[in-house]
Amino acid sequence: MKEVKMTEKQNVFKELLKLKDNSYSPYSNFKVACLIYLNNNEIIKGVNVENAAYPATICAERTALSQVYSLGYKKEDIKSLELYTDSESLGSPCGVCRQVISELVNWTTPISIYNKNGFQLETNINELLPHAFEPAQLTK
Ligand code: THU
Repeated sequence: MKEVKMTEKQNVFKELLKLKDNSYSPYSNFKVACLIYLNNNEIIKGVNVENAAYPATICAERTALSQVYSLGYKKEDIKSLELYTDSESLGSPCGVCRQVISELVNWTTPISIYNKNGFQLETNINELLPHAFEPAQLTK
């Protein structure tokens, strides 16, 4: 990857490290942070927000995407999604988040994955969830 791009990734990594401290994860102690960069240069933040009723937990990606749409933005407004997990391994989005991303983010929008060791992988939802269940499939 180009030098400029690596510097960009390092800067994003620093922002993700700051954001992960907002994670509310007293049950798993696993911090996740998501930054969504918009084309208008606005940056939307999300962390995982857990609950004593465990299934009520919201992942960082969905926290961030809900805000994007609540603010009136749409998939066309999203430049990239940056995801940090407090992990030594890859730490890619869970299945539920992949499904949600597939509907709310364009297929080729870059999704970058970071872990404790920094930037790991740039991918997109087309690679993460091929043959996704899509709204068009709801037609009977
Ligand atoms: N988590 C996320 O925030 N995003 C994912 O894609 C994977 C899992 C959170 C949910 C829970 O708070 C913790 O990580 C452990 O599963």
